[in-house]
Formats: sequence, structure tokens, C-alpha cells
Amino acid sequence: MSYSFSLDDVAFLRSRHGEKALQTVSGLELSASSMIADVPEVRSRYAPHDAALIETVRCRRRAAVKLRAADDLLVNDDALQQATASAVAADRTAEIAGRFPGAVVHDVTCSIGAELRELVRSNGIAGVIGSDLDVVRLAMARHNVPAATLLNADALTPTSTADVVLADPARRSDAGRVFRLDQLTPPLLELMTTYSGRVLIVKCAPGLDHMMLRNRFGFDGEVQITSLDGGVREACLWSGPGVEPGRRATVLRTRGGVVTRFEITDRESDDVDAGDVGEWIVDPDGAIVRAGLVRHYAHRFGLWQLDPQIAYLTGDYVPAGARGFRVVEQTGVTEKALRKALTAHDCGPLEILVRGLDVDPDRLRKKLKLKGSQPMSVVLTRIGRKGAAFVCEPGVRF
Ligand SMILES: C[S@@+](CC[C@H](N)C(=O)[O-])C[C@H]1O[C@@H](n2cnc3c(N)ncnc32)[C@H](O)[C@@H]1O
Repeated sequence: MSYSFSLDDVAFLRSRHGEKALQTVSGLELSASSMIADVPEVRSRYAPHDAALIETVRCRRRAAVKLRAADDLLVNDDALQQATASAVAADRTAEIAGRFPGAVVHDVTCSIGAELRELVRSNGIAGVIGSDLDVVRLAMARHNVPAATLLNADALTPTSTADVVLADPARRSDAGRVFRLDQLTPPLLELMTTYSGRVLIVKCAPGLDHMMLRNRFGFDGEVQITSLDGGVREACLWSGPGVEPGRRATVLRTRGGVVTRFEITDRESDDVDAGDVGEWIVDPDGAIVRAGLVRHYAHRFGLWQLDPQIAYLTGDYVPAGARGFRVVEQTGVTEKALRKALTAHDCGPLEILVRGLDVDPDRLRKKLKLKGSQPMSVVLTRIGRKGAAFVCEPGVRF
């Protein structure tokens, strides 16, 4: 359970006394086993701000994997979970600066300012405004992003004439995670109505049904699905003047602190055939699958499909960044056929990938009771109406 800061806590944490207290508390272990001693110590010295100090230090430690320069941030657990990862926010910032040079950008649900921190670093963006309904988060943003203009405002009441409006509605209510578009705060369709005719970028959950948004609600902008290091992070909706309808997948990877990116769009050819399995089975990045761009990706990289309806690809090599499985043999999908083939290869630990068949990988793994020593993978899928199983070497990320 996240500690909710008060305005008084934030004022303390930003004061000189608070800064020194943070330094002292950051020297403590604050682990599950040390808390029994750490909490009374911090309380005796810094009550009533002891909980805020501990929450800040623990969240800064956790934030380091997600947010750049996290050791000076004011952040609590809820805000951290909701924050956009710096690599994703920096990529969006670069794109806004490239597409709308010299723009003023207004983040109308800025929270503690994780997106704003990247926007203010860009030379291509002329001004940055942040607003939020939550005054405590705004006070934290004031510390985290002193260069932004910050307002306490409802996103559904326009408060600026910024060239680009950015929104990231909350996907949680008191009852937990929400999935319906009208349960987002602020609700997606109301945001779109409020900013109609202006450039609007809305960050949504990666599982957003963007086809339904187009077909049922007439969304005519661009859908961008972004992944970071193999995990799909978000579906982002771009709309307004200068934005063409379309779909694209943005695949970001971090290597030694450097972020690389590549993109596939629906403007590319998707002319690929289905055919026999090649040396490798390629499992495309989740952003490509969610954006419905598997065939476009296959065309670009000279791969082909096993079946026109299934997202597994095959080929004689694996494109950089993708996960590939070198095929050892094709077998039947029955438990008996799989056990026989896998036992013949001395299979022990087994990764099971499934698309197009109703198979629960965990249950199947238990039933197979493999006792060998070799780690292997098996790809279960459907080719036409028939199930097919490919026994493979363990998956490798290229
Ligand atoms: C998912 S968080 C945004 C996180 C932010 N993009 C970041 O990276 O730190 C959503 C924010 O929207 C704010 N919010 C919810 N409804 C709002 C509204 N009607 N107007 C302004 N802000 C709102 C919440 O207070 C919350 O801080």
C-alpha cells in the first residue's frame, strides 16, 4: 500500500531540513528485515514526516530502473507505477520535437512530471506546461521539473492554447485497475471531444482495442504501440492537424544505457506468403503483434508465415532484436507425441509457446513430466485447421 503524501510532507521534503533528513534516511537499509529497527529510528528523529521520508527513499531506489536520475525525485509508489518510463517519454519527446518543431506542449495529466522531465530537456520544444487535479502531485512535480509551468486544472477544461496536448489518463480507481474507456480518469472520449481540432496525444493501456476505437467511435488518427526491452508498454493515440491515420509499432531497446529504436508502419508492404518452416521460428516483438503489423515486419525482413492467421514467423535467420527458436524437429501436438519427441532429445526444462491452440502451457508442462537435462522450447500452433508442434532449441534474443 502506497503512502499518500500531504502538502506538508512535500514542503518538508523540499526544505533544507528535509533534504538532510533524506540523506540520512538514504543511508539506512530499509529492507523487509531491517524495517523493524529502521522505522522507529526514523520516527524518533523526523515524525510526523517519517513515513514520507521512508517512502521517498524506497521509491527512489525502485525508480532507478524506470526513471532517469531518480535519486533526486519526489515520488511515491502509486505515482511511480503510473509514471511513463524515461526511455519511452524521451522517445515521444523526440518525436513531438521532430513533427511539431518549436511547439508548446501541455501535459494535462502531468502527475509528478515523469513526461515533463523529458519534454523540458528538448531543444526542439519551445515551452512546457503541466497540469493535474491532484495538488500534492503537482507540488511534487514543482520539485521534479522546476523548468515547467505548472497549473492545478481539470484536463477536461482547456487552460492553454498549447500546440500539442498530451494526456495519460489514470487506469485505476479505488476498486483497482479499470479496463473500460469511460472508466479512465479523465475518460478517453471526453478528452478527444475537449481537444477536437487540436493535436492530441493520449497514452493508453497496451491492450487498448484500437480497432474498436476506429470502427465504433470513428477514431481517425494514428495508433502507436510501444515496447521497451521486450515488454509492451503502451498504446498511444495521435490525432489532430498534421496526423495521418495509421498504425505503427515502436520497438525500443536499452543496451548499456543507450536506447535503440526501430519502427514498422502499416504504410509498408505486407506481401508475404505462408510456407514450410525454415531454420528458425521467429516470435515478433509484442508491439508488432498488438499493432497488427506481423506481415509488414515479415516483408521487411524476408521472413514468411507458417499460417496466414498466426503471428509466428519463420525464416533462415533471426532479425536483430527478435526472439528466435532454432527448429530441431516437427511433431504432433498430442501429449504422447510431444513426450516421445522431447524425451528423445533428453529434454528437461521446457519453454512452451502457444498461438492458435487452446493449450495451457503450465498444465501441459506438468503433464509431460520431463526428466532430462537439456533445456528446450516447443512452439505449438495451428497450420490451417491442424495443430503443429515444433521442438526447438531454447529461445535466443538476437
Ligand atoms: C497515469 S497518471 C499520469 C502519469 C504521468 N504521465 C507521468 O508519467 O508521471 C494520471 C494523472 O491524471 C490525473 N488526473 C485524473 N483526472 C484528471 C483530470 N480530470 N484532470 C487533470 N488531471 C487528472 C491524476 O491525478 C494522475 O496524476
